Amino acid sequence: MEPKAEGLTIRSMTERDFPAVDECDKKITGREWAGTASRRASSHFWTYYPPLSFVAEIDGQVVGFIIGSMGGPEYSLPVSGWVTTLGVDPAHSGGGVSVALLQAFVDVCEISRIPARMMLPHNERFERLLEKLGFERGTLIDWVRKPSPD
Ligand SMILES: CC(C)(COP(=O)(O)OP(=O)(O)OC[C@H]1O[C@@H](n2cnc3c(N)ncnc32)[C@H](O)[C@@H]1OP(=O)(O)O)[C@@H](O)C(=O)NCCC(=O)NCCS
Repeated sequence: MEPKAEGLTIRSMTERDFPAVDECDKKITGREWAGTASRRASSHFWTYYPPLSFVAEIDGQVVGFIIGSMGGPEYSLPVSGWVTTLGVDPAHSGGGVSVALLQAFVDVCEISRIPARMMLPHNERFERLLEKLGFERGTLIDWVRKPSPD
């Protein structure tokens, strides 16, 4: 799965990238989400774990981001890298930017010998992408009891 986007580079995210990530995220807001829905990327900055967070750049401009954190024991799972949020500027979608970001994330997990995880509502199209990257369905299941109607 080679990136099709020309001039694409993936590099580690630093706190100096937060404004550009926020700008990129604003372009996504209101568009269709494969994930849990549109919580702003900035709401995840406090959980950001630098070794698992990356930005995608084209011509020095941030066109995508992945914010990763560490987790697992809170769900009785081994320490794992978690994809907290992932976003790509719609002007650059379909060019393999998200694949390249996820691959960078997976590579760090692989080197660290920890599982990579992501939680998201059932979404066949996005799940195909995860499967291509070697992910499989995990064991977490969401149980809900809605409040009784008034
Ligand atoms: C989903 C998203 C990250 C994909 O980025 P991208 O760079 O365009 O994706 P790539 O070109 O690397 O890969 C394409 C694959 O991503 C998946 N994908 C792309 N857009 C998707 C969408 N809207 N819904 C579900 N899956 C999508 C598909 O598997 C697609 O492969 P296909 O075209 O063969 O179906 C991007 O559209 C986005 O930022 N969406 C809004 C935020 C979001 O949903 N984030 C993910 C959950 S946190």
